[in-house]
Amino acid sequence: MGSKLSLAHLPTPLERVPALSGLYGVDLWIKRDDVTGGAEAGNKIRKLEYLLAEAQERDATRLITCGGLQSNHCRATALAAARCGMAATLFLRDKSLEGVVSDDGLPLGHTELVGNLLLDRLCGAEVRRITAEQYSRRDAILTGAAIRYQSAGERPYVVPEGGSNGLGALGYVDAMAEVKAQLDAQGAPPFDVVVLACGSGGTAAGVALGAGTHRVAKTVHVMAVADDAPTFTRRIEGLISEAVERGPEWGHRLDGPAPWKVDDRFKGPAYAETYEAQRQTMFEAAQRAGLVLDPVYSGKAFHGLASLARSGELHGRVLFIHTGGLPGLLAQAPTFAEMLQTS
Ligand SMILES: Cc1ncc(COP(=O)(O)O)c(C=O)c1O
Repeated sequence: MGSKLSLAHLPTPLERVPALSGLYGVDLWIKRDDVTGGAEAGNKIRKLEYLLAEAQERDATRLITCGGLQSNHCRATALAAARCGMAATLFLRDKSLEGVVSDDGLPLGHTELVGNLLLDRLCGAEVRRITAEQYSRRDAILTGAAIRYQSAGERPYVVPEGGSNGLGALGYVDAMAEVKAQLDAQGAPPFDVVVLACGSGGTAAGVALGAGTHRVAKTVHVMAVADDAPTFTRRIEGLISEAVERGPEWGHRLDGPAPWKVDDRFKGPAYAETYEAQRQTMFEAAQRAGLVLDPVYSGKAFHGLASLARSGELHGRVLFIHTGGLPGLLAQAPTFAEMLQTS
């Protein structure tokens, strides 16, 4: 039987947020997975506890993965690799790249060293930038890199985009078991709904499965931060099946998922691009409750939660999973400058 590594600081707090509950007209709780660790904090570290256990089992010397230029997943993977004595190679999608770039990517210049990228480099990860077109062939690019490292005598382990496969999703089944234990300790009933951000689907798959298995919530509301609802619905369904298949070998007895749905109304103009109403919600949460959200994931999902709570579409006991992403906010200061100077 496989056993996961212990990388995250757990259990994370489960907190009530009275200041925002009053404002939105719901009983709002937050699972603080933005504090699963230090620089590696966020949702990804729970998935990496499983993925790195498998990498270690295979005696891997290097992790290879991919994401956006300011990927929280890549940063968490790079830090976890360093902590476990492995090297890391990150393929990052860079929209600004022009001209011909080989599938091996371009090395990073020093000018982009902010936010997650700074942390990637600080812990010694090899950072390769690729175009959006190459990113659309990411699985082949990761496999090609693995073959090259293998022929150079290394033992690479490929971590999928976002850490999202059936194995990684088990990390969020555990998170839901953790919430259930926290509810039981307080004698509190299950939630009416769990709300979370979705970028590659693994967290949502684990939460839906965990919420059903551990009776944490009646429904799960998944906020897409890019793409569309049908795309994510298919992806999450696939991840749930994969997690159910892999669960037993890691000691999980899984029931079906709680009823879940994907909502793509709050994704904004594009991945990692914010919009005015979202920025205002982020400002409000930080000012009224000291709740700092990130622009790419948790800020969009929380804006969706606030909007739907205000309109009455969400009600009762609402749990928001704060999935982290602070370094991404710190890399986007110019986006917030106008709002903060004029407010
Ligand atoms: C801060 C943050 N929140 C949410 C997500 C979404 O998680 P998932 O990729 O499992 O859908 C990510 C990762 O992409 C993230 O970095």
